[in-house]
Amino acid sequence: MSSLAAKHKAINLGQGTPDFDMNEALIDLVTKAMKDGHNQYAHRNGLLKLREAIAEKVEYLYQASINPNTEITITPGGTYAIYTALTSTLQPGDEVIVFEPAYDSYIPNIEINGAIPVLIPLTFPKYKIDWTLVKEKVSPATRMVIINSPHNPTGQILNKNDINELRNIVTGTNILILSDEVYEPIIFDGCQHESILKYPDLFQRSFVTFSFGKAYHCTGWKIGYCIAPDNLMKEFLKVHQYNCFSCNTPVQYALATFLRQKNEYLKLGSFFQAKRNLFNSLMAETKFKSISSQGTYFQLYSYKNISDESEIDFARKLTIEAGVTAIPLSAFYKLGKDNRILRFCFAKKEDTLKTAVERLRKYLRDV
Ligand SMILES: Cc1ncc(COP(=O)(O)O)c(C=O)c1O
Repeated sequence: MSSLAAKHKAINLGQGTPDFDMNEALIDLVTKAMKDGHNQYAHRNGLLKLREAIAEKVEYLYQASINPNTEITITPGGTYAIYTALTSTLQPGDEVIVFEPAYDSYIPNIEINGAIPVLIPLTFPKYKIDWTLVKEKVSPATRMVIINSPHNPTGQILNKNDINELRNIVTGTNILILSDEVYEPIIFDGCQHESILKYPDLFQRSFVTFSFGKAYHCTGWKIGYCIAPDNLMKEFLKVHQYNCFSCNTPVQYALATFLRQKNEYLKLGSFFQAKRNLFNSLMAETKFKSISSQGTYFQLYSYKNISDESEIDFARKLTIEAGVTAIPLSAFYKLGKDNRILRFCFAKKEDTLKTAVERLRKYLRDV
């Protein structure tokens, strides 16, 4: 969709990338680190100062006591952390429960390890986990459950009840959890992020993955981290050691300082909530129907009052004829599923959002 958007000069609300500048102070900190000579390999696990800052952050947010020496590894992005967690634990034939729609790396990362994704659809149209269905799908071969909250592409979040249901399923088994929390700070309406780090019993069997790209509007930096208990992290490091080995040093120095400025991540919820509200209020004047987003910078819309076309055809048409790009939700299902839903990214400047919706309104008036 991004190539199509570029070809037709459409406003790209498809891909999840902010179109506004990141914080200059963070750029200055990277420049300073380079000028100060921090340009050689960092420690395999990541710069200790950064791991310590992360441990402080999760203690502050989740009262989690994490050992920065043995339980945190800095990675080149969240996707790499997910891949490494899967590769260090899966054997051919293992089953991994994945909820669909899903971030697109999960299934290929499972399959490349010879493991089997067990696909469970989220309920429609609320996109919640049907835990009864999960219980039915658990088998002696189940090795892992992947959860993602706040959730891409739906913007839904897990609540305490979901965590209890998950606990009921894994207790007494050797099922691992991969908790993808890359949108951790982007949560709305006073809701709390139910990080797995809050639950020591579940953390003992979990890899928890994060991305600085999402938090600080620098997706192109590709830097993130994984938190896991000592025994699981040992396995993670066996893969990491011979794959990436160590991440960009000056960026780690900069983040180690920047992360201590709590307000920079605490303000992200209200920052993106204002964008979601603006986008929703503009879209309310069209026939698109919103499916509420509680986190991330994505918002789903149904177009069932506008067209009967497939999601792919309609998304293409909007790009080419209206000049606005969104992602067909069917792209987030292995076998596709067409509920006439599109995903829009609202991590954009006010002007971009206003112009995009104006284009949609004009197009819908004219057709
Ligand atoms: C749910 C989810 N997990 C992980 C990632 C990957 O993050 P990174 O860019 O740090 O690899 C993304 C990126 O879009 C995502 O949406």
